[in-house]
Amino acid sequence: MAQAKENERMEKIVSLCKRRGFIFQSSEIYGGINGFWDYGPLGAELKRNVKDYWWRTMTQQREDVVGLDASIIMHPMVWKASGHLETFSDPMSTCRQCKKLVRSDQIWPIVIESSWARAIAELVPGGTVNTGQLVNWAKGKGQRIAPNLALVRNPEVTISWISERIQKNPAPFEAKELLQYVATEQFNQTGLVLPCPHCGGELTEPRPFNLMFKTHTGPVESEENVAYLRPETAQAIFVQFKSVVATARQKVPFGICQIGKAFRNEITPRNFIFRSREFEQMELEFFIPPDEIVAALAGDLAGVRGEGHPGEPQPNWGWQIWHKYWVEERLRFYESIGLPRTSLKEYWQKPDELAHYAKATVDILFDFPFGTEELEGVAARGNFDLSQHEKFSGESMDYFDEVAREAWKKFDESKKQELREDYREKKYDSLVRKGLELGEAKAQAEKESSDYFDKLAKGLYTPHVIEPSAGVDRLMLALIAQAFNEEEVTDEKGNKETRVVMKFHPRIAPIKVGVFPLLKNRPELVAKALEVKRLLQPHMSVFYDDTGAIGRRYRRQDEAGTPFGVTIDFDTLGENSALKDTVTLRDRDTMKQERVKIDDLVPLLISKVR
Ligand code: GAP
Repeated sequence: MAQAKENERMEKIVSLCKRRGFIFQSSEIYGGINGFWDYGPLGAELKRNVKDYWWRTMTQQREDVVGLDASIIMHPMVWKASGHLETFSDPMSTCRQCKKLVRSDQIWPIVIESSWARAIAELVPGGTVNTGQLVNWAKGKGQRIAPNLALVRNPEVTISWISERIQKNPAPFEAKELLQYVATEQFNQTGLVLPCPHCGGELTEPRPFNLMFKTHTGPVESEENVAYLRPETAQAIFVQFKSVVATARQKVPFGICQIGKAFRNEITPRNFIFRSREFEQMELEFFIPPDEIVAALAGDLAGVRGEGHPGEPQPNWGWQIWHKYWVEERLRFYESIGLPRTSLKEYWQKPDELAHYAKATVDILFDFPFGTEELEGVAARGNFDLSQHEKFSGESMDYFDEVAREAWKKFDESKKQELREDYREKKYDSLVRKGLELGEAKAQAEKESSDYFDKLAKGLYTPHVIEPSAGVDRLMLALIAQAFNEEEVTDEKGNKETRVVMKFHPRIAPIKVGVFPLLKNRPELVAKALEVKRLLQPHMSVFYDDTGAIGRRYRRQDEAGTPFGVTIDFDTLGENSALKDTVTLRDRDTMKQERVKIDDLVPLLISKVR
């Protein structure tokens, strides 16, 4: 029941997005292309506002983050070094009958959305099976909507497994169990299986499918000129790390951020713009010194203490507290654009869920209408990426830290010895954990420790990184879903109606203010309204509307999410001399109106929308 309501809400959101020009299907006149979307006039404004605000808070309002805008196609070695060529894949199964592909770890959520699965669920209310009904369905409607389902192809055998289950265990079937039974023919050999969501057919075992889009540079398509559309914006930041250090006058700890397109050939793009094949990311790589260096320089290493934001950055912060800091900064960002804290969750990935490069990752989840899903990942990536690029390019990724070099010089021999031993021991433990044989681990730890401190004596080290990585499109969907409201209101004539209102935070709303002359056929009202429009336009996005009853015009702007409406009436013109050159200012959410002087409009509205 709850699922049906959520689906209905999602359908309403998708329909509003199309109807009001937020989001269109890409290439719709040709039937669309799966996994690609276009932003219409309102969507494009909303997206721009979100990206601009992220950029402003991430770099322009901070001293310690600079920006980058890198190319989408990079040298293919980038993807070898980063591990994407080898490991950036999802498990994929193919339907043996209809040949369609499906992501093996997402079969079930797609199956339950299919028309045939819903039809079967309707036949079995409460999970109590009437086998005769199932057979009838298989011989009738099932032939058309799930022709390759085991129940349809071979009802006798499938029903025999179902009857056996009922005999052994008369409890009602769970939805998943039942749909597995109707998909299973060779029960003794395979156990219960999940079917192809499209035709009910049999799926192959999962095999890895690399998600990178491949292309070629230049006129010849050969192995030598293979290139890839970037699957994340992050790698360009690592690759340009040294260039930025050389030019930006920044010192570690500092960050480089980027907004840009990323491409993943998702096997099953789904949930509207949530998982698409072309999307945008807003990523920050925040470079920090390794913990040993912080500990050596600051005398101690601050741990994460207590809940919440750890406050202003301090010189004794190690990676864990920086990680916590960025999780909290990101949560604050979301709150500042209208996603309440209660709609967001933190999920700390378990060790076996972490990507190969990550020491820790927190997923920031949002309550989407279809479930609580990832909006952003905040990963502690160690120095994996810079080290890999150093290894593959042969270019040093060392960072020169003068403070570290001077501090090292001042340490006495026993302190240096203590730091070396501490480092060597930690290295040794981690190598043993990785499975190295004890003698080999000891020798390698010895060598790495000696190289590390030789470099540190010269002030050189490879920085570690904390990476908050957000998807613009997922954020768009979260903002749209959060803003979507249906309210019952009473119009001027006392009739009840449903008001659809997009309650965007004014900071990101596509249009900030609607300007309306009370009547279209009164030139003096129109002239004044156009004057007000021209007054506001240099400062914010304004929509002028003089068509239809004023109530209808308000409703149109409510659906567009415009937070303020300015109406020019006869009092504005001086019919009531005390109100001359004032307008009514309507608040979208409360629908309350107040009288405001035209001269005060610009500063008042600016204070509300910035
Ligand atoms: N550099 C790290 C990285 O790319 P990720 O978790 O794969 O990490 C980060 O992606 C964010 O990018 C996700 O949290 C999500 O918001 C967005 N994202 C990833 N794949 C996406 C897709 N297929 N469609 C839309 N957004 C996606």
